[in-house]
Amino acid sequence: MGSPTVSINQAIAEVAADVDAMFGALLAIPTDARARLFEAMRHAAMGGGKRLRPLLVIATAGIFNVARIQALRAGTAVEAIHVYSLVHDDLPCMDDDDIRRGKPTVHKAFDEATAVLAGDSLHALAFEILSDPETHPDPFVRGDLIATLAKASGPDGMAGGQMMDLEAEESSFDLPTVTRLQALKTGALIAASVEMGAILGHVPPEGRTHLRGYARDIGLAFQIVDDIMDVEGDEALVGKALHKDADAGKATFVSLMGLERAKQQAEMLVEQSVSHLAGYGHEADLLRAIARYVLERDR
Ligand code: IPE
Ligand code: IPE
Ligand code: MG
Ligand code: MG
Ligand code: MG
Repeated sequence: MGSPTVSINQAIAEVAADVDAMFGALLAIPTDARARLFEAMRHAAMGGGKRLRPLLVIATAGIFNVARIQALRAGTAVEAIHVYSLVHDDLPCMDDDDIRRGKPTVHKAFDEATAVLAGDSLHALAFEILSDPETHPDPFVRGDLIATLAKASGPDGMAGGQMMDLEAEESSFDLPTVTRLQALKTGALIAASVEMGAILGHVPPEGRTHLRGYARDIGLAFQIVDDIMDVEGDEALVGKALHKDADAGKATFVSLMGLERAKQQAEMLVEQSVSHLAGYGHEADLLRAIARYVLERDR
């Protein structure tokens, strides 16, 4: 596969600092009765998470020499959707979790109604960022970014996958159905991150085939690793409660394939994802490093 020339840890640290700074600037706490809402949004969005989705936008846009601030803004928009999905995913009516990113979940640190509103507001913030000319001066590019993220967030993307995930507790889904569930629940926002990097780079849709293949494969590998970590991860590192899937009787890659085959599948997918980048040179090294990180991560 060739060795990566990019330090993935350094890239993650830089993106994490930049995303935190951007949320900090966007979410200045007002001196009125909405302060609690902003505090809850900051609690959810700042100071944690791997920032994989912004990193993917930045790494993809980097291939095409897009200005970093544009990629960072688009990446922060995807992260805002991701964080909103986590806030709602943790609610008592969904997964009922107390810990996220090593901190109390928003409904624990605040209250349920505030958590619902913080999620709603992060959702809106994503599209506010994308529709701002600072993200891109060309309104057609902004429209494309908005349409891509909207599709990946709604019933044909993350929210649709979350619905299937709830059904997975009641039904005995087979492997193709679980694969579809995960492609929506987790894969859609990962794919949108790569797609948005290509949109910022003015890559026409017919030129995005290999990048889409890469994104599809790492998205699936990412969720298989999440399922594996749910079984054998370290809660202190992962920063959330584990062993939730088996307790809920949920069909996952691990429950359907067993741990060993799930690991082999994740490895195969990561190799395959990197093979989609064969037409690129060193400019795609960060994407290659991200693919390996998806497999080797411990959080
Ligand atoms: C967790 O996502 C939820 C899934 C989609 C599997 P991440 O593992 O990217 O969570 P953070 O952003 O690092 O906290
Ligand atoms: C949630 O999936 C994915 C989202 C779209 C929020 P999980 O419920 O498996 O995520 P974790 O394990 O709580 O992070
Ligand atoms: Mg869930
Ligand atoms: Mg959950
Ligand atoms: Mg999980």
